[in-house]
Amino acid sequence: MKKVTTIILLVCVSLSYAQKKKINQEVKKTPVDMNAFIDELMSKMTLEEKVGQLNLVSVGFDITGPIVSQNVEEKIQKGLVGGVFNTFTPIAVRKLQQMAVEKTRLKIPLLFGFDVIHGHRTIFPMPLGLAATWDMGAIEHSARIAGDEASADGLNWVFSPMVDIARDPRWGRVVEGAGEDPYLGSLVAAAMVKGYQQNDLDASNTVMACVKHFALYGAAQAGRDYHTVDMSERTMMQDYLPPYKAAIDAGAASVMTSFNDINGVPAGANQWLIKDLLRKQWGFDGLVVSDYTSLLELIEHGISADEKEAALDALLAGNDMDMVAEIYLAHLPQLVKEGKVTEEHINFSCRKVLEAKFILGLFDDPYRYADEKRAQQILFKKDYRDAARDIAGKSMVLLKNENNTLPLKITGSIALVGPLAKNQRDLIGSWSGAGDWKQAISVEQGLRNAAPGLKINYAKGANITDDTLLIKRLNAHGGNLEIDDRSAEEMIKEAVEVASKSDVVVAVVGESQGMTGEAASRADIGIPGKQLDLLKALKQTGKPLVIVLMNGRPLTLPWEHANANAILETWFAGTEAGNAIADVLLGNYNPSGKLPMTFPAHVGQVPIFYSAKNTGRPHNDQLLDKYKSRYLDVPNEPLYPFGYGLSYSPFTYSDVKLSASEMKEGETLTVTCTVKNEGSRDGEEVVQLYVRDITGSVTRPLKELKGFQKIMLKAGETRDVQFKLSANDLAFYRFDMSWGTEPGKFIVFVGGNSRDTKQAPFTLVE
Ligand code: NOJ
Repeated sequence: MKKVTTIILLVCVSLSYAQKKKINQEVKKTPVDMNAFIDELMSKMTLEEKVGQLNLVSVGFDITGPIVSQNVEEKIQKGLVGGVFNTFTPIAVRKLQQMAVEKTRLKIPLLFGFDVIHGHRTIFPMPLGLAATWDMGAIEHSARIAGDEASADGLNWVFSPMVDIARDPRWGRVVEGAGEDPYLGSLVAAAMVKGYQQNDLDASNTVMACVKHFALYGAAQAGRDYHTVDMSERTMMQDYLPPYKAAIDAGAASVMTSFNDINGVPAGANQWLIKDLLRKQWGFDGLVVSDYTSLLELIEHGISADEKEAALDALLAGNDMDMVAEIYLAHLPQLVKEGKVTEEHINFSCRKVLEAKFILGLFDDPYRYADEKRAQQILFKKDYRDAARDIAGKSMVLLKNENNTLPLKITGSIALVGPLAKNQRDLIGSWSGAGDWKQAISVEQGLRNAAPGLKINYAKGANITDDTLLIKRLNAHGGNLEIDDRSAEEMIKEAVEVASKSDVVVAVVGESQGMTGEAASRADIGIPGKQLDLLKALKQTGKPLVIVLMNGRPLTLPWEHANANAILETWFAGTEAGNAIADVLLGNYNPSGKLPMTFPAHVGQVPIFYSAKNTGRPHNDQLLDKYKSRYLDVPNEPLYPFGYGLSYSPFTYSDVKLSASEMKEGETLTVTCTVKNEGSRDGEEVVQLYVRDITGSVTRPLKELKGFQKIMLKAGETRDVQFKLSANDLAFYRFDMSWGTEPGKFIVFVGGNSRDTKQAPFTLVE
């Protein structure tokens, strides 16, 4: 108990130094209007009706847990439902909304939520791919389009952004976030919220964002989903919590609590997390919702004895809405009668739900988001698909390009090989909500669209996997795996024949979309199945080998890196994947993506991330040194570091110059680096700024990202890129957990990734 108190106190102290910006919901009506309206409404509500507002049920098109909500229509008509998710389209939404506003005593409209994660009808690259653009304008634009489509399709609430920092690629949900870094992750989180909400939730084409999964879900032990998180408060504050805070500062109006245990208390029952940190210290004023049946799972966690106790623990911790478990509905009225919960507790949460509905304008017009005409006009419209193509191109990361193998020449012939070459199902990735994979453009189609003269010789070459148990598991989650029942040898033989008569081999290989996402952890993160055998056989033909990867996580690619002539990481790039991949392969777009997550050389290195500590015995992979912090059998270095990505234009960096060698608190230091495009094409480069604090009252990471600029340089152009560093960029959670700087020596690094940098030292003086 004592320990818990100490931690709470320390965190309070530390946060008093942090920015404390109130949540920025631009409510057009004044809060007084809203409060008076809600007071009046709540004065008429029975306890059961108030508890009904806390009930979020799933009905319709999708389920993401073992339990499905029952008798929903009956409950809606009794006023026992506050919101519905997984139902969309104006017609379906209107039908349920009508029940709420025409059949219930108080006519309170419903919230309609959905997992709009990387697009609604028009699907953008999966979030890890979006983060690889390092282009906040593009990311915000993708969320704006998603919000526009979702709001025309009946929805007013999206369960996004997912901002969990993730450093273990075995965890399937790395696909849903922005990767390993808190600085990049915070910017992405804020951009997504702005895109959805536009600082104007009163508009009928914006939707309420929901920051998830609060908190630390991405640090699940051993990369296994729903697993335990045990973390020091310093690591939480420094590395894992900033993106949630950034999303809230950007105005996110709702937060979803996570499934995981945090230092012994699951998030759903964690009073420190929700009441102290989120509400008191961060001043969050919006709606808190649980995850899917997570409140019921408090029993399995071993924190609550039964459903009734779980309802009590969850409400007292601060969850306003119960997603799917329906334990609030079943037990809160009785808990009030027994005096274990006061009506004030219920009122607080009920008010949060009603405030969300008010802010969204649902009391003015409950059907404002179910607009058939607008839906017909905008869903999947050409402009949106063009944006998806553009953003997909930006998300692709060129990992290798020996002797300018890429771009491909459009004269001659290519062998287009691999289980993902003609595939459509996997292109839109997991969590592609209302996206229709049949509308996705395959790589083959994309190449044909862009280069009708190109001779394409196709062979599938391999299945994504041949593991029957894995196939069953994936198909049980809607995987739709197309499994060819020819033998692996036969398929490879056909591919080799096709390769032998072509000028170059383009092998489109990787994971199926269901291999990442919820409950989709993998222990082996190589390219699955017989695909590596296929690549090895293709290599034997002696033809140049281009690997086009599709996958939702960093993969281990040692053979691929050593043997392919070129490798292009395309993630799951969405509706326009094939066109965008063709744009890059044929040189119509010069790749500019950078990895938002480290690619390990071996799965045994995991967790691996660039901002690690030095240790007392740092190891250099180039040396044969003993008694150092190393593996005997694999290097310490990853295969591809955070921030890495090539272009068709080689960029060179000159030495870093600083405006001064010393800096005082309150001053800024200007960092200048000259970047040159040495190539013959115009190209974009993400110029990255990192800092290392050499000594501190606690040990500091080897490098921390503190800024970046994505710049366009014309062929041959040289530009001075400047960054300003202020004391806040050097601040950290010091030994006593206070936020601030300490005088001493620092190093600034500038480069095109976190490994290959130019550096300069300076001193922070008192
Ligand atoms: C469970 C997932 O963890 C969460 O991300 C999602 O929003 C909900 N299910 C609703 O589908």
